[in-house]
Amino acid sequence: MVKMVDRSEKFYQEQYSQYADFEKIIQDEYEIIGRVLAAKIAARFSSTRIVALDVGAGTGRMPKTLFRLSKDHQIIFDYMDPVASALRMYEDSVSPECRGIPIQSDWASYEPDKQYDLVLANNSFCGIDCSDEGTIRKISAITKKKGLSLIVLPSQRGDWVQYAQKYWKSVHQTPFSKTIFEDFAQALAEYSVQHTEDFVEAPVTLPSIDDEHILSTVFAVMMYVNRTEIPKRWNDAYVDFSRSVRKQGKLKFVYGIAECRPDEK
Ligand SMILES: C[S@@+](CC[C@H](N)C(=O)[O-])C[C@H]1O[C@@H](n2cnc3c(N)ncnc32)[C@H](O)[C@@H]1O
Repeated sequence: MVKMVDRSEKFYQEQYSQYADFEKIIQDEYEIIGRVLAAKIAARFSSTRIVALDVGAGTGRMPKTLFRLSKDHQIIFDYMDPVASALRMYEDSVSPECRGIPIQSDWASYEPDKQYDLVLANNSFCGIDCSDEGTIRKISAITKKKGLSLIVLPSQRGDWVQYAQKYWKSVHQTPFSKTIFEDFAQALAEYSVQHTEDFVEAPVTLPSIDDEHILSTVFAVMMYVNRTEIPKRWNDAYVDFSRSVRKQGKLKFVYGIAECRPDEK
């Protein structure tokens, strides 16, 4: 099996950020998705104070985006992540008046002791087991009757997922196994968790679609590999990818949003 790339800041700078400004791409994405989520929150809640849970909280980028965009609501997030350092980074970045309590747990083993107005899982369920009924049903179980849960995952409608699925086997010698939006939405339907679906398109703005450095950087980030190893290990997949992207002239990322309202069975 291929070794996953070093995720340190130093490695990232050396390998990727000199070729493509992923920080900007990500920030633009959060802005686009954040606006859609903020509109859904505004449409659902008339009271100003919202008690919320951020599942897979990471560094708190999405709650911070939502605080800025949801001026009429005060959202207090309990923040869950299995990784202790993520909880610490969340505390460093999200101001205390917007924070509830930290929960160090993964979603599957989490045993809720209360319900929330709002449950948010933004890009956190990429490794979730969709065949586990309890994991899926917990979404509505933990959300108050008049509450809202919002689950965001990359969709197959986006180039990124389609390319990753196409090349995963040849790069990693294993079938593509990340949970995408369509898997999750299907599991919600299977376990009768009523939901609606929405899709948000986030264009990936690259300095140049023709530059080998940029395309190999995108390939490396997308496939979780070291870009310097591409020519000797995955050249066929990379050549096919770069030809296809050039022909298309752009890359787009599409996210699916599942919206569950427990009172609308
Ligand atoms: C891509 S980051 C997204 C972080 C954050 N939600 C955001 O939008 O910036 C995914 C986060 O989900 C967490 N995570 C992964 N699997 C999880 C699980 N089963 N339960 C809870 N959190 C999980 C990871 O530790 C990581 O912090």
